[in-house]
Amino acid sequence: MKTLPTLLGLALLCAAGAAQASDNCTISLDGNDRMQFDKKSVTVSAGCRTVTVELKHSGALPATAMGHNVVITAAGDVAAVAQAGIAAGAAGKYVPANDQRVIAHTDVIGGGATTRVTFPGNRLRAGGDYAFFCSFPGHSAIMRGTLVVAP
Ligand code: CO
Repeated sequence: MKTLPTLLGLALLCAAGAAQASDNCTISLDGNDRMQFDKKSVTVSAGCRTVTVELKHSGALPATAMGHNVVITAAGDVAAVAQAGIAAGAAGKYVPANDQRVIAHTDVIGGGATTRVTFPGNRLRAGGDYAFFCSFPGHSAIMRGTLVVAP
């Protein structure tokens, strides 16, 4: 009679595992030497405890010439935050410091590098209007896309 609770426990663990597997909590983007991200839209689940942003720079140019990062803001904040990022300069990773409009941002990387950052999923709400972009000077007009938060 000791096996029944064990089996029940295993079944519950499996169910929990399946629920997590259906959640997408990672944003993966690839930037290149032609100033492009590989995606125009990414989707994460609203229920994520933690969201991970992974950026790979598949080009070869250095960060000083073709730097890429990923900044996440509300869609309406992209232009202003990108402008403030340019003012922050390379020393500030092209991101305004302590700016509540910045939901998350990675480091700036050059060709061959990868970087990642995590942020609390509760900074996003289902159905919200979010964007991702690269805040390296001159890149945000092209290197940007939509972040969908699926219910
Ligand atoms: Co860039």
